[in-house]
Amino acid sequence: AARSPDDLRCPVTVIMGHVDTGKTKLLDKIRKTNVQEGEAGGITQQIGATYFEKKTLETQTAKLNATEAFDIKIPGMLVIDTPGHESFANLRSRGSSLCDVAILVIDMMHGLEPQTIESLNMLREKKVPFVVALNKIDRCYAWKTCKDTPIRDALKEQEEGTISEFRSRSADTKLQLAELGVNSNLYWEMGDDDWCNSDFIPLVPTSAITGEGVQDVLMLLCQMSQRKIWKKLMWCANLEATVLEVKAIDGLGMTVDVLVVNGHLREGDKAVFCTLNGPIVTEIRGLLTPPPSREMRVKSEYIHHKEVKGALGVKVIGNNLDKVMAGTPVMIVGPNDEEEDIKAEVMSD
Ligand code: GTP
Ligand code: MG
Ligand code: NA
Repeated sequence: AARSPDDLRCPVTVIMGHVDTGKTKLLDKIRKTNVQEGEAGGITQQIGATYFEKKTLETQTAKLNATEAFDIKIPGMLVIDTPGHESFANLRSRGSSLCDVAILVIDMMHGLEPQTIESLNMLREKKVPFVVALNKIDRCYAWKTCKDTPIRDALKEQEEGTISEFRSRSADTKLQLAELGVNSNLYWEMGDDDWCNSDFIPLVPTSAITGEGVQDVLMLLCQMSQRKIWKKLMWCANLEATVLEVKAIDGLGMTVDVLVVNGHLREGDKAVFCTLNGPIVTEIRGLLTPPPSREMRVKSEYIHHKEVKGALGVKVIGNNLDKVMAGTPVMIVGPNDEEEDIKAEVMSD
């Protein structure tokens, strides 16, 4: 199928890091939601997915764009939230395997922690370009809140003492990263070409609570997508889809959350899934998504679709889904396909 630089898909962005560094809170900030406060023990225990429309990316970077002038060409962004708790390494691994770009969140007050390093190694192994959010900058001594402001503007408002704490904490983290062989720098101290064309990792101080630096993170993700990995993001008609989660939903029965990266899924498609007992073929009876800027793992007023196009997270309804395995591919039996061939293919991945 023909692919074109004028037809980019949404980048799949994974957010990773040590427990309680503020991954879900950062997403809450962009979504204007309170998902984190509803989590049991304040801990994320599942993979999440949130789709942001292009216009949301535009409004959420508008202050920065007023001075920096950049075009957003991607049609939106799909963000995968992952748990930071040590027991969920499998979900972090799944997230890092599925994504195009990533945000590695570090608690600025703590520096590198065990799952920071684990996440970093997963991203490096899979060669995923990423930005580092140095989160909780609002905890620096006497920080003056500059709500939802680009980070450099917020830093200009701070007193000497606050700046020196910020400087020393970011230098410490930079050193810790360097000890692991990762070159990094505050992103505005690098040339654009450095964060697009070299292995230097851009650092962005953020506050998920008051929003400083969040515009900068979104801008960097858009720029990396468009300038660094645009070839990979050229939309492709061949279906590329993976099971994120399998769960029972009141009134819907067992459902499968699927990440569709490329291609389409349609109601009525004959889908092939992997289960513990081998491949199953089932008709897709429904395709549901939450509204844009809403977390898929939170029950909401789902939107029903006849057809979805990658990249998107979608809840699939059908029969016999209870033994489907998360992390496995989804395939469709097309008009010219032999069902047995597709069954063999889906299990061989
Ligand atoms: P897991 O998903 O469990 O790994 O945690 P997480 O990384 O998603 O962190 P979460 O969003 O649950 O935030 C953890 C705690 O840190 C919560 O109490 C948040 O309110 C707090 N927090 C997150 N970001 C910030 C921030 O930028 N500033 C401050 N002051 N607190 C923050
Ligand atoms: Mg979380
Ligand atoms: Na948490």
